[in-house]
Amino acid sequence: MNTIDMSPRIEILDESSKAVSEIQKDRYCFGNYVDDFAGKLDQTWDDFCSTWDDLGADSFMADEGSYRERRFSMAVYDAESSELSYKRHGCYFQKEGDNPLNGGVERKFDAITPYVAGHGIIKDLVRHYGTIFSVLGYGNHWDLQIHQVRIKTSNGETGEPSPEGIHKDGTNFTTLVLINRNGVIGGENMLFDNNKELLASKVLENQGDFVILNDKELYHDVSAIEPASESPGYRDMLMIGFTQI
Ligand SMILES: [Fe+2]
Repeated sequence: MNTIDMSPRIEILDESSKAVSEIQKDRYCFGNYVDDFAGKLDQTWDDFCSTWDDLGADSFMADEGSYRERRFSMAVYDAESSELSYKRHGCYFQKEGDNPLNGGVERKFDAITPYVAGHGIIKDLVRHYGTIFSVLGYGNHWDLQIHQVRIKTSNGETGEPSPEGIHKDGTNFTTLVLINRNGVIGGENMLFDNNKELLASKVLENQGDFVILNDKELYHDVSAIEPASESPGYRDMLMIGFTQI
């Protein structure tokens, strides 16, 4: 494993208390990386976002769509020591019961690059999420699945962020951050209880908008995206799944 040095754990209980109380009450929360965690964005955010221009095609689309690009890596995180360690590159696997469209198959994607893997924004997000989950009583040891995903759309091609429909990821918590929306309409994140009754829906509009959801207690889905004009568009997301070890 490659271990990434992380700065000492900072006390963020006050900052994260909104997320903690909302997840406790609702099993999810919406927020914004800048407003809730970082305080400001700088040039590193733009550099980080530009790495979504360098993702490979997702060739494991059971609907034969060519509108999804992604990179994927696995890591473990110790919230006590704030140590993030990347695992040897491997396949992404979901159970068929969790993802009827693309589950049951080992899907191989390019690994996220060392630049992204060690980026301060990834480390910062993981540390904040880990602290929230620790405060919620989930312990400190996590398996992470880290996905960079771009969904593209153009005239004649709808982009389906969630072609499998209402589903679970098979994690304890799934976290989604909007990296960029460029020339698209749609892409509404929807959350359902375990009876598949709609609880909440929201379009993540601004860079850094996030949702954290308890995957054991909720289902989720995202509506299709269409181009807002004649030009093609895309929607870039960072997804980090947390599964207790
Ligand atoms: Fe999902």
